[in-house]
Amino acid sequence: MTTLDPTDLAATTLEDLFVRRRTPKTWSERPVTDEHVAAVHDAVRWGPTAMNASPMRLLLVRTPEARARLAAHMAPGNRDRVLGAPLAVVVAADTRFHEHLGHLAPHVGGARDRFDPDHEGRERMARENTWLQAGYLVVGLRAVGLDVGPMTGMDAAGVDADLLAGTGQRTVMVLNVGWPAEDATPHPRAPRLDFDVVARVI
Ligand SMILES: Cc1cc2nc3c(=O)[nH]c(=O)nc-3n(C[C@H](O)[C@H](O)[C@H](O)COP(=O)(O)O)c2cc1C
Repeated sequence: MTTLDPTDLAATTLEDLFVRRRTPKTWSERPVTDEHVAAVHDAVRWGPTAMNASPMRLLLVRTPEARARLAAHMAPGNRDRVLGAPLAVVVAADTRFHEHLGHLAPHVGGARDRFDPDHEGRERMARENTWLQAGYLVVGLRAVGLDVGPMTGMDAAGVDADLLAGTGQRTVMVLNVGWPAEDATPHPRAPRLDFDVVARVI
């Protein structure tokens, strides 16, 4: 397992993870290494997915050339955000996740072969569980003190055809990742719904 600088592990309470944490638009200059992301992934990969299918795949977009290619597929308001973040990560759903089921779900006999002809079912399961894993990843990145800017405003099919060609992966979102900066959010925080609006007890 990859290890992290323990000084990065300060933010672990619900207050830190959710209540005080914003979605930033700007970043500190401190770089985000592959090892930071790998260490967080080593932990959040244990979050539950259906059949333990674990379909989330990550493309860490680092070089200026690759970053420009990604930015070209983003909505106009998101382009500078992708170009300005220390790291941009394409979070993708692997529609060929079933190739790993023999390893990941040995308790489910024949799962790989049952999924193989079911293209629609695979696409649905890959997307649903990648959304779930992306949530784990966002919270995991926050837990080590990183800030995350998720984005879905883009031509996702364009990203697939350009950066994910031949992989069977489908772009679900792009995450800008960096260390917190002062004044990183341009507007006051919007409210959230109260529990009695969100939940019913029967
Ligand atoms: C799935 C998802 C997609 C988002 N897409 C975009 C986007 O395309 N562009 C953008 O500027 N912000 C985007 N956001 C950021 C949200 O608007 C922001 O997280 C939300 O308003 C909460 O802001 P706060 O954390 O500062 O309270 C997205 C967030 C999520 C979780």
